Amino acid sequence: MKYLIGKKQNIELFVEKNYEAMSQKAAALLVDSLANKLQEKQFVTFMPSAGGTPERLYQILGEKYKTFVDWSRVIVLQMDEYVDLPAFDKNSYTWFLHKKLVKPLSIQKAFFIGEYAQGRVQQYDEIIRNLGGIDIILHGIGENGHLGFNEPESDYDSTTRIVALAPETIHANARFFSNMETVPTRGITLGLRTIMQAGENILIASGVKKLPALTRALFASVSVNLPASILQNHPHVKVIADEDAVDIKLLKAK
Ligand code: PGA
Repeated sequence: MKYLIGKKQNIELFVEKNYEAMSQKAAALLVDSLANKLQEKQFVTFMPSAGGTPERLYQILGEKYKTFVDWSRVIVLQMDEYVDLPAFDKNSYTWFLHKKLVKPLSIQKAFFIGEYAQGRVQQYDEIIRNLGGIDIILHGIGENGHLGFNEPESDYDSTTRIVALAPETIHANARFFSNMETVPTRGITLGLRTIMQAGENILIASGVKKLPALTRALFASVSVNLPASILQNHPHVKVIADEDAVDIKLLKAK
């Protein structure tokens, strides 16, 4: 089911039955956006998120859409990465994106933000500028409403930088690590300003754990306290969520 929400009806919200249906819908919408962009320009810049939510979506890209998009013309830009974790660590987002997306789809050009953490942070934004900006970002949403590693209270004007991870983020990420001591506490992330400059922002969410953050992101006032709410001010947003992540009653009352 599709709903148009936001002050300027600028957010297309798709509510799907479950995680599988959400992943299928998001994959279909994403490849449409990529293919449309590739009709206008030679290369499309795509910023995928890492994390549990997009896993199935990336699998579907390989299963159904390997030839639908000319992936050799897709340039991948990583959104965020842990600092203090080697790129080849199996819990790094670099490893994840390489294994789930870049390799299976034979993507030829990818920029990994983690490589810029040591004294070259601003170069990452320069690369984005030189590529003409980001066409499409695929976001997950944190339980605390973060986008990338833009945690609550992040500056709207922020650009790429190193941040301290919020306790909720460290706690949520702990499921991937063998013990609490090894969970990274710092990250490098694209900033909110750069997110707002992207051509299109697509956000996916699944499960009841995401319901409070997604509800506030879509329906509460825009606030630095919940970074994802800033997307209400972006002109071109698609949100694909499963029923567990959406407050259907509130949505219907709007
Ligand atoms: P998840 O992470 O997909 O693993 O839930 C999303 C996020 O924290 O942005």
